[in-house]
Amino acid sequence: MDVKGNIENHSKAKLNIYKKYLETYLLIMYKLDYCSDIFIVEPFAGKGISDNGEEGSAVIAKKAIKSISTPKNKNVHLILNDINEESYKDLVKNLEHDGNRISCSNKDANGCIVYALSKANNKTYYLFFIDPWGYTQVKQETYKKIFKAKRLDFLIFIPVNHIYRFLRKDDNSQQLKPIANFLNDMGINEKDAKKYQDVLSFVNGIKKAFTKKLIQNMFTIKYLKTQIIVMLILLDKTYSRRRKIFRSFR
Ligand SMILES: C[S@@+](CC[C@H](N)C(=O)[O-])C[C@H]1O[C@@H](n2cnc3c(N)ncnc32)[C@H](O)[C@@H]1O
Repeated sequence: MDVKGNIENHSKAKLNIYKKYLETYLLIMYKLDYCSDIFIVEPFAGKGISDNGEEGSAVIAKKAIKSISTPKNKNVHLILNDINEESYKDLVKNLEHDGNRISCSNKDANGCIVYALSKANNKTYYLFFIDPWGYTQVKQETYKKIFKAKRLDFLIFIPVNHIYRFLRKDDNSQQLKPIANFLNDMGINEKDAKKYQDVLSFVNGIKKAFTKKLIQNMFTIKYLKTQIIVMLILLDKTYSRRRKIFRSFR
């Protein structure tokens, strides 16, 4: 779903990847004995159903969770949030009545993230899905909390082709500015972008910058058809057991 409340093709690509990632993630988590609670957190959830009648990320997550039977020794919590009151009301209408492990809130994303992280203990696992329209609004201090957390996967989508051209001044879409600012905070700026010969080497540069910035392991997924490249950041030290997730995307 985009900011206008519609789901267009590039959003569909993002949603397909999210669905596939989530399903694979749950199957792997369900096999881990020492995992008791899984939190799927979406701080920029939108309405659940778009204005053009398509399922948004929140409904997709709910259905993915329901489609795989949860083992008795595990709980899956879906934490959804949207700051906009109207979107929140629609979200509740479309989601909440459907299960007591789904919670919807109406606050700033930073508050939602901090709340979700407060539930952590040594048996909890997190998957954060950060919408591309949202991650520029997550504060640096909140990112620091996310990056410090354990057993946490963090899924963001960066429109690298567009942002590469924007940083090199080949594209002037001002709507990319917040993303450029976000990358600047992460250590990638205009000067760096000009140094890279092509988008793929730019992606490698982003990976390096992120890795330097606290993140332990990071994977990227190419999605060339719609020119979106998905950046997947994995913060879990036990990632070797879960490489399967990434293999299934290559
Ligand atoms: C593009 S929509 C979300 C679409 C949804 N993730 C999907 O893919 O179906 C972005 C949402 O973020 C919400 N939003 C914007 N700024 C926010 C903030 N600071 N905190 C929480 N939600 C915010 C907007 O109200 C909007 O509904």
